[in-house]
Amino acid sequence: MGERGAGVAEQDELAARLKPFGQGHLLRFWDELDPYERAALAEQIDQIDLKLTERLISAWIKATPAPETFDRIDPMKVIPLPTPASPDANAAWQIGEEALRAGRVAIVLVAGGQGTRLGYDGPKGTFPIGPASGRTLFEYHADRIHHAQARYGCTLPWYIMVGESNETATRAYFETNEFLGLDPSNVHFFKQSMMPTVGEDGRILLESKSRVAMNPNGHGGCIPALVENGIIDDARRRGIDLFSYFQVDNWAVKLADPYFIGYHLQGDGEMSSKVKRKATPREASGVFCVCDGKVRVIEYTELDIYPALLDTNADGSLTHFAANAGIHILDIEFIERVYRNYERFPWHCSHKKVAHVRESGDLVKPDEPNAYKFETFVFDALNYADGHPIAMEIDVKTEYALSKQMEGPGGVTEARQLMHDYWSEWLRAAGCLRDLSGIDVEISPRYAASLEEFVEKAADLNWPASGPIAIGPHGEFL
Ligand code: UTP
Repeated sequence: MGERGAGVAEQDELAARLKPFGQGHLLRFWDELDPYERAALAEQIDQIDLKLTERLISAWIKATPAPETFDRIDPMKVIPLPTPASPDANAAWQIGEEALRAGRVAIVLVAGGQGTRLGYDGPKGTFPIGPASGRTLFEYHADRIHHAQARYGCTLPWYIMVGESNETATRAYFETNEFLGLDPSNVHFFKQSMMPTVGEDGRILLESKSRVAMNPNGHGGCIPALVENGIIDDARRRGIDLFSYFQVDNWAVKLADPYFIGYHLQGDGEMSSKVKRKATPREASGVFCVCDGKVRVIEYTELDIYPALLDTNADGSLTHFAANAGIHILDIEFIERVYRNYERFPWHCSHKKVAHVRESGDLVKPDEPNAYKFETFVFDALNYADGHPIAMEIDVKTEYALSKQMEGPGGVTEARQLMHDYWSEWLRAAGCLRDLSGIDVEISPRYAASLEEFVEKAADLNWPASGPIAIGPHGEFL
């Protein structure tokens, strides 16, 4: 068959697949495409789970899903901020340290998102968060891994979830930067799947004449991606049974935290979570609560459906104060069980502005939301957890510095201020007498992971008399 004949056969075959789902328009510009564009479009269409997409369109766009109803919603019991003075916390710390020494823990980082709000040209993890050094979020996370490996004499394999839009750039970043000093055989990238982005009429959008508009399937996509990319098998071969999970944009995250691992192992919950005290009743974070006996995270967009979540105690404090911090521990066996039952994993739908081509072939850049994205969220795995999932409180000032966007709550400027205040305290404790207000301050977590460690190590440092104070992984001034 000639090239044209092959193109027609392929077009017919694709059309036969798409038409029953009302998505035949994806081939509207087929005749204008060159063979490469056709091949790329065919490959994209191959990736789409049309049945699932149809199910989601019927549930979310053609109808309005009825909210779940619960007979009762109780507050989540939260383990208070651990301190060395607490015997409970001390016991947890010992158990956590033992698990780290025994090599039972691997790090899972979800970094497959599109990072739209930050608007940075590159994967979010390559954002130069260090105000003085320009060191990236990935470098800070790698520093923490180095520190824990040295301290516990273990290997912490690092599994990094990437997406279609940032896989190549993320891999290239690690290769160019020699895997940030980590052994490349312990750093693995795995790719999440994509979902088609759907217009308000229930038809999948084209981002150009030859490309379907797609979005990554949410951080919950790590569940199938961990299994299907052989990550669970790799972890098991290494004797690992616990994943320490976090999100790329939290500069301050304490990954592989012995307190958290220890509390998780003491419980019987299969999945544990760190939570932060809500700053305002309606802040944009999911709320942990117990719905009809099951731990759940209810999205802030649903607060009006469940107004009890805004209740206050006699002293005015929020009854349901535990906000999701996006930091979890998951047993690997649990992930496999969730995966086996993934068909009933809940989906979420959000209304977004998405550029697309019209029937005429013109590109539209909408000013108002015009499209729906479907995603899954990792915290919904809690729906499957047996036992009693635990939640442990963290201190926002020391473990929650987000880079969702440049300015405003959860933005880079706020994160830099938080870390400035955090590290300034360490510097003062170590004898730095300079006025640090307005001075850029950074301390590599590879050099010191706590104030106490910093004070011990920094005794011999000569503080620069002026300019920023940025201390690198080996105690050098950057
Ligand atoms: P966010 O919800 O902040 O999304 O992700 P985002 O894609 O980074 O940014 P916006 O919403 O487009 O501005 C929280 C974490 O989950 C990861 C992100 O990379 C980030 O670490 N994530 C999100 C994924 O890995 N995959 C996804 O599909 C979505």
